[in-house]
Amino acid sequence: MPRLTRRDLLLKCAATGVLTLAPGMALRDLLAWSDPQAGQARTPTPWDEIGPFYKRDAPHVAELRAAADPGLPLSVSGRVFDTRGQALEHATIEIWQANDAGLYDLDGYKYRAALATDRSGAYAFNSVMPGHYPARVCQHIHYLVKAEGCKPLTTQLYFATDPVFEGDPARNFHKDPLIESADLVRPVKLTRAATGNVAAVTFEIVLERA
Ligand SMILES: [Fe+2]
Repeated sequence: MPRLTRRDLLLKCAATGVLTLAPGMALRDLLAWSDPQAGQARTPTPWDEIGPFYKRDAPHVAELRAAADPGLPLSVSGRVFDTRGQALEHATIEIWQANDAGLYDLDGYKYRAALATDRSGAYAFNSVMPGHYPARVCQHIHYLVKAEGCKPLTTQLYFATDPVFEGDPARNFHKDPLIESADLVRPVKLTRAATGNVAAVTFEIVLERA
């Protein structure tokens, strides 16, 4: 059974009449209270180049990894906001990455997806840790993010566990000349599962208003 967020619960209560608001109180005020991350001014996510391997019309799938795929299973999740801290529903996130061996699928759409954020601005997908490839220094996942009223953003997600950073991405992110900000290098949470290790990364996106 899906777990209701405080926001979901408030909306449901308001819709069914269980919740009535005092004079002068707006539902949006209550919703802001229900989401402690909402309404905080945020710094835009740094831009990074789109690179040569983008393809249009990626499939709308969140499961990019087949069970037999080689590589470290990786879950990526996050939320999309604007710089005012407003969570962006219906934002589109196109992602593409190399496979475990560092190869992009140029003929098809393996490890390519188009996602949409939900009501709380959240997105998620399951993949594998991308491999290194000769033209680039660091492992990365490409992002192209669009939302109504905001400037489109191309950027890239990097991983703090990448051996290139020697355990100190804040100091060593410049080892890849395409990384202009350590903010794009995200911590990796490794968990031991029955089938082996799995990795999880959170990557929040903040778009500038158009
Ligand atoms: Fe790339």
